[in-house]
Formats: sequence, C-alpha cells, structure tokens
Amino acid sequence: MKRDFLKIYDFKKQEVYKIFDTTKYFKSLRKEKKITDNLKNLSIGLLFSKPSTRTRISFEVAIYELGGNPVYLPFQTTQISRGESIKDTAKVISRYLDGIIIRTYSQGELEEFAKYSEIPVINALTDLYHPVQILCDLFTIYEKKGSLNNLKITYIGDGNNVCNSLIEGCDLLGIEIRISCPEEYMPDRKVIENIKNKNLLKISSNPEEFIEDADVIYTDTWVSMGDEKETERRIKIFKKYQVNKDLLKNAKKDFLFMHCLPAHRGQEVTDEIIDGPNSIVFDQAENRLHCQKSILAFLFSSISY
Ligand code: CP
Ligand code: NVA
Repeated sequence: MKRDFLKIYDFKKQEVYKIFDTTKYFKSLRKEKKITDNLKNLSIGLLFSKPSTRTRISFEVAIYELGGNPVYLPFQTTQISRGESIKDTAKVISRYLDGIIIRTYSQGELEEFAKYSEIPVINALTDLYHPVQILCDLFTIYEKKGSLNNLKITYIGDGNNVCNSLIEGCDLLGIEIRISCPEEYMPDRKVIENIKNKNLLKISSNPEEFIEDADVIYTDTWVSMGDEKETERRIKIFKKYQVNKDLLKNAKKDFLFMHCLPAHRGQEVTDEIIDGPNSIVFDQAENRLHCQKSILAFLFSSISY
C-alpha cells in the first residue's frame, strides 16, 4: 500500500522520531561522502507550479544520493497547463514514475492527484501547508536542543502554510506553540479546530505577548507565493510584527531564531536578527536535505520490485 505525505498528520508521532533517527544517520553519512541505494532503480518526479530554491534542490540531490533518478517537471511544460485533468495526469504519471513530489497552489488539487495516483505523493508546499519544511524544522530544533520536551515555540507574522503545518507538527509531537498574527491573517480555522492538544496552542494578535519565555522564535514572509497582489496592504498591516532587536529585547539569551527562507530582510526580519548569534536559519536550510532523504527512505521502504 502506497504512503503519501500530504500533511503532518499523515505520520504518527513514533514514525516522526524514527525519521529523525534516520536523518541523523544520513547526515553523518554525507560527511563521509557516502551515498546509499534506498531509491535504487526508482524515478521520482518533481512537479512544481511555483518557484523553489531549497525544496527543489534538496529533493533532487537527496534522490540522487539515495541512488534514485530525479525528474524535474515544471508545471508549465506539462499538459496540465493546457487543461489535461489532474485525474488523467496522475494515472499516466503513475505508469512512468515511482513517486511524485508536488508544489502547487490548492491542497484540494494535491489531494485529488494523490487519490488517483498509484505512487506515493509528497506535498512540497501548497497554499494551506508546507509539511516537509516543518518536519525538517522540528528535526533541527530536536538536534539543537537535544529534546523536544518542555519547549515553547513562538511564531510571529502571517498565519500561512508554514504556520498551519507548524501548528500541526507541534500538536502531533506535543510541543507548546504560541502564534502572534494580525486578526485578519490568523492561521486556518479548520487547522485550529482540528488540533488535539488544545491546551498547547495559544493565539494572540499582540506580537510582544509570547517573546519572553520562547525557546524558538519563528517567522516567515508576509507575502507568500500567490499573495503578491496584496503586497502593499500586507506590508502596512504586518509592520509591527517585524522580528527585530526591539521586539526581542526581553527574549531568552539562548532562544533560536528560525525562518524557512526565502527571507525578505527589512520586512519580517532585520539583518541583525537573521545574521545574529541566535539565528540557525542556514543549519535549518541544510537539514532539509538530510531530513527529506529520511522521509523518502521511509515512504519507499515498503515498496519492493
Ligand atoms: N523554504 C522553502 O521551501 O524554500 P523554497 O521556496 O526555496 O523551496
Ligand atoms: N509562506 C511562503 C513559504 C515559502 C517557502 C510561501 O508560501 O511563499
């Protein structure tokens, strides 16, 4: 039976820890320049309808270093861009490829693809979720702190795809998560309604509320891909949510600053924070490669040819 990864809840808590253990293993192997054969003879497609630097490159390299064959499929070059249905495309692609990684706008379309696909589908970002990002980020926190117990994570800014998956990731692993967003840019209502650990989620529109005791302070762009028409309006509304020295003046000395990148320096974060001693953004970006290898190895371990 194929396994998809379309949202955080597609994994169980113990599976996530298994993926983290394997991530450590892949990270140490890479230092020795060793590659493996977890994806030997497998071709994995990357169907992207939005730009990407980290996700595309780290997945392509991960597939190669696991012995597989990455096939990059820009959406505009496929017949979907001329109206071929998702259903037919999913059925056809399943005859050529062994897995598919998709970055698109609608989570509904991604789920429709997965419904008709006979091969595992991985969500590489939709407007609603960015689950691979968050799984990799939780690994980075685990690696830096040694444990995910008794941590407090604060997310400041837009209640977007990254924020929605962060809420679900913290819910799955039992981590306290506090969100500061403007009233009109709160996280998805259904995401909030569906979380199990309601006591671990706090939400406020005051950017200063969850700074003092935060172990991790996370932000993301105010203008996600697809929101560009609202840029001017958003920049005005989000101004007081900028992560800067003044906002963080009462933060713990050893807090970790995280950002999924790309950053819009001078908007959601200032240079002194993203380049400062608490920032782990480049380690966070590097871990995308190691953790995604582990996700791929996990999803494809049940397939035998
Ligand atoms: N963080 C992230 O997903 O970056 P890209 O858009 O460059 O893939
Ligand atoms: N929220 C951002 C994340 C980019 C990696 C976006 O969707 O554009």
